Amino acid sequence: MSSTAEKYTEETVTWVHTWVPEKLFSFRTTRFSGLRFAPGQFLRLGVRKISAGKPDEIAWRAYSVASANYEEHLEFFSIVIPDGEFTSELKRLKVGDSLYVEKQPYGFLTTSRFETGKDLWLLSSGTGLAPFLSILWDPEVWQRYENIVLVHCVRDAEELVYQETIHSYCEQELLSDFCKFQDKKLTYIPIVTRGPSDFKLKDRIPLLIRNGELERSAGIKFDPERSRIMICGNPEMVDDTRKCLGEFGYKTSRRSQPGQIAVENYW
Ligand SMILES: Cc1cc2nc3c(=O)[nH]c(=O)nc-3n(C[C@H](O)[C@H](O)[C@H](O)COP(=O)(O)OP(=O)(O)OC[C@H]3O[C@@H](n4cnc5c(N)ncnc54)[C@H](O)[C@@H]3O)c2cc1C
Ligand SMILES: NC(=O)c1ccc[n+]([C@@H]2O[C@H](COP(=O)([O-])OP(=O)(O)OC[C@H]3O[C@@H](n4cnc5c(N)ncnc54)[C@H](OP(=O)(O)O)[C@@H]3O)[C@@H](O)[C@H]2O)c1
Repeated sequence: MSSTAEKYTEETVTWVHTWVPEKLFSFRTTRFSGLRFAPGQFLRLGVRKISAGKPDEIAWRAYSVASANYEEHLEFFSIVIPDGEFTSELKRLKVGDSLYVEKQPYGFLTTSRFETGKDLWLLSSGTGLAPFLSILWDPEVWQRYENIVLVHCVRDAEELVYQETIHSYCEQELLSDFCKFQDKKLTYIPIVTRGPSDFKLKDRIPLLIRNGELERSAGIKFDPERSRIMICGNPEMVDDTRKCLGEFGYKTSRRSQPGQIAVENYW
């Protein structure tokens, strides 16, 4: 790692994993030791536009950190957009290649948005899963909430990635103590809306909230006193879900007016 400018550092790719060829992959980079972020926040990443034949230019995009804030590396989970300016460059990166990472973290999709609450609902579509993976690595979250529900809504079953990680949180050294006295502290709810799958839920999140299916699958009820709800991914999903919850009286949490909802739109 070398510091190339004050605003960002140059980092090295240390690991790449393809989940779905030409569609979904994850990667890790080295991490500047002075970089601090809260689980759920995003960083701005930069890649040189070599594939576009403009190596002197850098394309920048926001990326949620998927790894724990105490890890030595940074992990990200990415889509590949056909002809996308950024992801066409990102997808060619191999171990040993470099990319740029801004030192300043951004975003308010953090549990610090909520002062109270007992049940944490993490509702995601597509790559919107990423910030929740980081949040789930945070021991404080496991200590603070009695129940955690992770919902991942995708078009096709092959996009239900990170299942091994999700199923292993309770066995992690820093987290296992919080799972000891409870059978199901974390409930994982996969939803596949288009392709065939063995998973039970096939409808969009707002419909599953309205018809009570999401509560039934989680085994807990939405309750304004207890529920704190984070939503991330496709902006239409975020908007429709927020509106749906709004009909039941749930509000976005603001500093001046605490509520139950925090959101992040990906585009
Ligand atoms: C706060 C924030 C955090 C983000 N975190 C992530 C992340 O962790 N992982 C990630 O893959 N992307 C993330 N994104 C999106 C990311 O910044 C880029 O948009 C994405 O890398 C595509 O870049 P592009 O130049 O190839 O295409 P763009 O020109 O940026 O986007 C073209 C179109 O592709 C679609 N699109 C863009 N991003 C996505 C996506 N993630 N999933 C599905 N469709 C998409 C939209 O229709 C968009 O209009 C985040 C965006 C924001 C605002
Ligand atoms: N994933 C693919 O196979 C694919 C293929 C071609 C293009 N793309 C492009 O990639 C981008 C997004 O990709 P993505 O894979 O993350 O898919 P996405 O379109 O964001 O869908 C992800 C999940 O969110 C759901 N969703 C979409 N809109 C919603 C809403 N308003 N309310 C509730 N749920 C909603 C989808 O359900 P539904 O299935 O019901 O929409 C799906 O289960 C889009 O720009 C898309 O055009 C993706």
